[in-house]
This record gives sequence, C-alpha cells and structure tokens, in this order.
Amino acid sequence: VGDRLALTPPMGWNSWNCWGLGVSYDRVKSSANALIEKGLADYGWNYINVDDGWQAKNRLASGEILPNEKFTDMKALGDELHKEGLRFGIYSSPGNSTCGGFLGSLGHERQDANTYFKWGVDYLKYDLCSYSDNVAGDTTLLAQQKPYMVMRDALKQQQRDIIYSICQYGIHDVWKWGDAMNGNLWRTTEDITDTWESLYNIGFSQTNNAAYAHPGGWNDPDMLIVGRVGWGEGLHPSNLTPHEQYTHISLWSLLSAPLLIGCDISKLDDFTLNLLKNREVIAIDQDVLGSQAIRIKNRDQIQVWQKKLHAGGRAIGIFNLSNAYKTYRFTIPNARNKSYQIRDVWAQKNIPNKSGTVVFQIPPHGVKLIKI
Ligand code: DGJ
Repeated sequence: VGDRLALTPPMGWNSWNCWGLGVSYDRVKSSANALIEKGLADYGWNYINVDDGWQAKNRLASGEILPNEKFTDMKALGDELHKEGLRFGIYSSPGNSTCGGFLGSLGHERQDANTYFKWGVDYLKYDLCSYSDNVAGDTTLLAQQKPYMVMRDALKQQQRDIIYSICQYGIHDVWKWGDAMNGNLWRTTEDITDTWESLYNIGFSQTNNAAYAHPGGWNDPDMLIVGRVGWGEGLHPSNLTPHEQYTHISLWSLLSAPLLIGCDISKLDDFTLNLLKNREVIAIDQDVLGSQAIRIKNRDQIQVWQKKLHAGGRAIGIFNLSNAYKTYRFTIPNARNKSYQIRDVWAQKNIPNKSGTVVFQIPPHGVKLIKI
C-alpha cells in the first residue's frame, strides 16, 4: 500500500474551523495542551495541524519560507509537539498565494519540503487556492494534477514520513487519482460549515467514491464541526443540534474519514468531549480493513449506510433525515443464525432482539449506529 503512511484515517486537530487566519503559536499550543489534558490524545487524536495564516509576508533572500510574528520558531513548536507524543501538521498552496492571501509554494516546492523536514513536519495539507489562476483556462485533468505531482516528488526526497493531504475540493474526481499523487487523503468537496444543509450535502453524497478509500488513501469530506467554531470570526457553539452531531461523527466514522476536530479544544464542553471519546465509535472509523461505508437503503427519509469491519462484522448507521422522530424496524438480513449480536455503539450495550429484529426510534436528523 504505497508508502504505508496513514494506514488508518488520521485523527487530530486543525486550526481552520476555529481560528481561521488568526492562528497563532499560543492558540496551537493551547489546543495541543488541551488535547492531552482532556485525555483526547489517549483516544488517538494526535495530529496538531496548523492551517492557513502561519506564513511571513516575504521569503528570505535565499527563498526560504519563514513563519510570521505569531509563530517565530517552527522547529521549536515541532519539537514541543513531538515531546508530548503529538504530530505536527502544516499547510501550503501550490500557487503564488494561499486562499488567505499568504505565500504559496509555487517555484519553491523543493525548498519548502526541505524546510518542513527541518521543522519536523509530519503532515502537509496542500490547498489548491490561487493555483487555479495559474491554470486559468486550462481545466484539464493534467493541469489539476501537475502541482500535486511537483510537491509529491519534493516530499519523496525528504528523509521523513510526511502525510500528504490533497485539498482541491474533489475537482476531476480526485479520489480516482489521489493515490497516484502519493496522497494519503484527498478532500472530496467544498468546505463544510456548521449547518445541517452543509453536513447533509457533504456527508450523504459520499457513496460513489467509496471504492477508492483504502489504508493509506482516504476520502476526506472535510473537518468536524463540533464544539466552538467560528473560522476566526468569533467563536460560537456549533449550530448543529446534538442529534445532528451524533449523525456527523457516526457518518464520518462509517466513511473512514480523517477525523480532524475543528474547534477550540481548550473550551470543550462535556457533550462534545463525550462525542469525541467513545472508543467503539472511533474503532469503527479506525477499523484496519479500511473499507468505506456505502448506502444500502434510501427510502422515506431514512438512509442506511453499511461498513464492513475487519473482524467480519458490519457497522450500520440508520439515519433519519426528516424533522420528526421516525420508527424503523431493522432486521438483520438472513438472520436465522441466532448467534448474531446487535450492539448499540454509542451506548456501548448489546441490544436485546428477536431473531435479529429490533424496532428503533430515531430522532430528527439523528442516527442509530449499530454493530453486528
Ligand atoms: C480552503 C480549504 O478548503 C480550507 O479547509 C482551508 O484550508 C482554507 N482554504 C484556508 O485558506
């Protein structure tokens, strides 16, 4: 499987959905510290990814990239994170500038990859942004792929494992060629926001790309929008209802999605913390088979998504897309064998059932996540 990196979907934190371009050393450190203090790191949340907004205005005369005044010493930051057992992610763009107007890597790809190596970077998110201007008029597949090949080759030269996150919003079905770029994950859609509409449009459209997910190469339906988010414009509690948040985490886990928390971890409320600390739910996301769920039923505003698990069982999400409670009668297909067990994954309890049949009450925009 390629470079054998990211054999399960990466988990951790990314600065964007919370701090936007206001990301700083202090904010990154406070999230890293909180990840440890609140016990999240023990559940596998271990990447600390700095998104757009860390770069200085100008490169050194040598062309080397520098952080801006909000950061100062990136190598020291990398060392501090590593000392805590965490991993260090960074962000750039293949064009002249990033989406936020900061310096991109165009013409400096090799030099930037060397710098990331020097800083101890473990993960690079490479975000298309202004590169579209460079290929203006050229909408071919090759024009899209080219910048990702250049950085792929630059990363390959480094004596360090660096996860490569391809962020170009799913253009030209990136899931079909992300592997060829040595990508370990590739965004399949535009940016997510904390509304049901955005969650629905992104999450429930991820069935056609399922066959392309595998250990080392994951479809990325974007980051988690739980807790306090705000994209640098003042933080507010996620606009998703609690039921919608269960749907979010359940669906992302079924989809074998990278799990990157996008909120201010230092201010996590108990609800969100519990959402992120359920071992059985995380185990579904991190299942080593690396098979992505597919939709097996879509009727009367109920969708059923099923994921094959390494141990031979299945994880199944029964989602209610309507605005009212719904009753759903679930039967294990061909369930004559009485030894099947149905487990409520969020509750971490087996569900008593009659020959594989259970009747569930599913809340509006909510889910019943089970394992068989
Ligand atoms: C667009 C990406 O999709 C976002 O996740 C974020 O990285 C911003 N760009 C940063 O400018």
